[in-house]
Amino acid sequence: MKRKIIVTGGCGYIGSHTVIALIQNNFEVIILDDLSNSSKETIERIYKITDVKPKLVIVDLKNDFETKRIFEIHKDAIGVIHFAAHKAVGESIEKPLVYYKNNLCSLLNVLEAQNQFGIKNFIFSSSATVYGLPKKLPITEANKTQRPFSSYGNTKKIAEEILDDFTKSKSDFSAISLRYFNPIGAHESGLIGELPNGIPNNLMPYITQTAIGIREKLMVYGNDYPTRDGTAIRDYIHVEDLAQAHVIAMQRLINNENKTVLEFFNLGTGNGYSVLDIINSFEKISETKLNYEVTDRRAGDVPELYAEVELANKTLGWSAQKDLNEMISSSWKWEQNFRKKINKVLDFSIKKTQD
Ligand code: NAD
Ligand code: UD1
Repeated sequence: MKRKIIVTGGCGYIGSHTVIALIQNNFEVIILDDLSNSSKETIERIYKITDVKPKLVIVDLKNDFETKRIFEIHKDAIGVIHFAAHKAVGESIEKPLVYYKNNLCSLLNVLEAQNQFGIKNFIFSSSATVYGLPKKLPITEANKTQRPFSSYGNTKKIAEEILDDFTKSKSDFSAISLRYFNPIGAHESGLIGELPNGIPNNLMPYITQTAIGIREKLMVYGNDYPTRDGTAIRDYIHVEDLAQAHVIAMQRLINNENKTVLEFFNLGTGNGYSVLDIINSFEKISETKLNYEVTDRRAGDVPELYAEVELANKTLGWSAQKDLNEMISSSWKWEQNFRKKINKVLDFSIKKTQD
């Protein structure tokens, strides 16, 4: 049986965890990544964890000629998991064209290449952002999607519409769109984790960077929401649980178990935690006091968002296994390990200059 999977964006945060899970489930992985938000070192780290070095092809998927050339070499692949995208919400509002071009041209090039070489299974990284401001909680997949606040979010909504049209037009192509809620955490080894470019937008990396002393203070965006403690509520999900869901979804497509040519699944735990819940748990786990201050709400934030996960539970047979403590402790372990490593490199280069 063919077991080769192409993973675009496989050097990134969620992609690298998924590559590990695929390898551990005996898939052969080919990573396509332009390293615009990741580094080659991820391959060494995956090797340390799995004893397998996945093949990395450095390619910008906006380039249709190069994308097709590489797909032709790997046309024996049985499926594609498409993570490659830009993901910074704030930046996408400042540079919408960059986001539409990268996220949508890459998607179109990958689909065209799959179409040309007959690779018929496709998993897409979507986001809970496609639900916009929900009228009812928890959110089920049957909820109507709305135009998201940011251009980044809108690339996800448009991508799902492209997939809808494309899967309808083809009899031998199936896709699953996985709508992630709030991915946090890191691999249990502490060897890979999230590495945001510049100042983090997201809560968890901002907390760990503040605790380690890179950021001065965490700003809590609003404590006047209609929630139990006034701060906004989200459904945080461990990145290793997300990774497992991708393996299961790909197996579902390979085994032709999908009910329709395009399926959507929420990936969350179904539990909502407030910003203060996260801060309090972090302080307990890390035994550190976090410097934080409440400020105004952030534009575009919704008060409360958590998933109904029954469909993924029943249909995929998947459910999140890791709780909030494991999410937070693994994020913290990763941050500490990573900074230790950076400091070692810095010490070494300072010594070198002094020599
Ligand atoms: P990431 O930035 O860590 O990984 C994305 C990877 O794609 C990077 O390695 C980057 O170098 C690569 N890439 C970007 N543009 C490319 C291009 N044109 N050609 C080739 N490679 C390219 O992001 P992540 O957090 O791992 O997210 C993975 C996917 O999940 C993205 O599609 C993202 O939008 C989606 N998603 C992420 C979150 C989250 O909170 N992290 C939430 C919902 C959805
Ligand atoms: C954000 C994006 C969403 C994207 C997701 C994953 C926005 C409006 N939404 O979701 O489109 O899919 O990330 O990348 O950016 N918070 C603080 N202080 C901070 C950072 C965050 O209080 O410094 C709060 C936020 O107000 C929110 C919660 O923490 O209530 C989680 O924020 P974040 O991690 O940025 O995720 P989302 O906003 O849910």
